[in-house]
Amino acid sequence: MKSHSPLQSFPTLLCFLASSILLQLHPVSSNPAEIYETCGNEFSCGRITGIGYPFRGSEDPAYCGYPGLELRCDQSSNVTRLNIKNMTFWVLDVHPSAQTLRVAREDVMQNNCPTDLVNMTLDYTLFDYSTSYINVTFLYDCLFNIPNVVFSCGNNSLSVLPGEVGAGLCKASVVYPALQTGDRGSFNFTGLDQVLRQGFDIRWIVDTGICNECTRSGGRCGYGGGTNQNENQTTCFCPNQPYVQSGACSSNSSPPPSPSRGTQASK
Ligand SMILES: *[C@@H]1O[C@H](CO)[C@@H](O)[C@H](O)[C@H]1NC(C)=O
Ligand SMILES: *[C@@H]1O[C@H](CO)[C@@H](O)[C@H](O)[C@H]1NC(C)=O
Ligand SMILES: *[C@@H]1O[C@H](CO)[C@@H](O)[C@H](O)[C@H]1NC(C)=O
Ligand SMILES: *[C@@H]1O[C@H](CO)[C@@H](O)[C@H](O)[C@H]1NC(C)=O
Ligand SMILES: *[C@@H]1O[C@H](CO)[C@@H](O)[C@H](O)[C@H]1NC(C)=O
Ligand SMILES: *[C@@H]1O[C@H](CO)[C@@H](O)[C@H](O)[C@H]1NC(C)=O
Ligand SMILES: *[C@@H]1O[C@H](CO)[C@@H](O)[C@H](O)[C@H]1NC(C)=O
Repeated sequence: MKSHSPLQSFPTLLCFLASSILLQLHPVSSNPAEIYETCGNEFSCGRITGIGYPFRGSEDPAYCGYPGLELRCDQSSNVTRLNIKNMTFWVLDVHPSAQTLRVAREDVMQNNCPTDLVNMTLDYTLFDYSTSYINVTFLYDCLFNIPNVVFSCGNNSLSVLPGEVGAGLCKASVVYPALQTGDRGSFNFTGLDQVLRQGFDIRWIVDTGICNECTRSGGRCGYGGGTNQNENQTTCFCPNQPYVQSGACSSNSSPPPSPSRGTQASK
């Protein structure tokens, strides 16, 4: 039998497109029990374990997590990735009770220095810096030698300065945060690569009040109102009833017989 790739056959392609469009229009299962079950998955990847709402694993449906808080596990390396403003970060640690993540840019983790010539920016609708960091400026290919640590980064020669410094006579300037170790303003340039690889802390500012109330009542947190596309907020999926907006499942809505909370991404 000859097999075709779906894209080689026009009717199949039409089918494929039609079903993608349908999936776009109805990304949410209308079966409450199924939604409830799916959104019980917790994200685990290597030493990061049991992470729930507002995060979701990339294999879970969008309605199980807050938009923009999607964690991806690379199972061959146990690296957890998160995109912020179109930039890939490695998630090194998660502290749900403090609502903080320790992250580092992927280019920094891979090369020990920023090879993407863009400044660090957060999505301030989702995150804030946690307090203890300092800015470090990397200056690329300067016309003069700045008397500080100069090292090579990819094909560039780099100078490093504390604080935020413009490019001046250099090709580019990249401002990047580093964990503050010791006194404010003091920075150990000798161990710079280790300092950068430690990452820095950011806090997620999504309100988790509704979610806590939901979980206490036996529900599971999600986003949006099931089939109702106009609910752009945290909602609560209950075992035997459609989602509730206010936060808590009603008391007659008891969990199903075996409320097994599956784990994802560590297969
Ligand atoms: C990933 O993490 C799991 C669970 O901690 C562990 O069993 C596995 O050996 C790790 N794999 C790698 C490649 O580090
Ligand atoms: C996001 O990054 C990709 C690949 O780096 C790029 O092609 C795309 O234009 C970027 N999108 C935005 C909105 O910056
Ligand atoms: C770091 O630099 C950014 C601008 O690039 C600035 O908004 C921020 O306040 C600086 N943070 C610290 C701790 O100096
Ligand atoms: C360094 O330059 C070489 C030759 O121009 C190029 O092939 C390589 O991709 C560059 N490396 C980086 C990290 O930019
Ligand atoms: C990064 O920010 C500094 C000012 O804080 C600015 O001078 C520089 O041009 C920015 N770099 C890039 C690549 O946008
Ligand atoms: C700076 O870092 C280097 C390498 O990690 C270490 O040997 C040195 O003791 C550090 N210096 C200070 C003042 O912490
Ligand atoms: C919810 O988000 C969708 C998609 O971003 C948007 O089209 C819709 O207008 C939003 N609804 C409300 C009530 O904000």
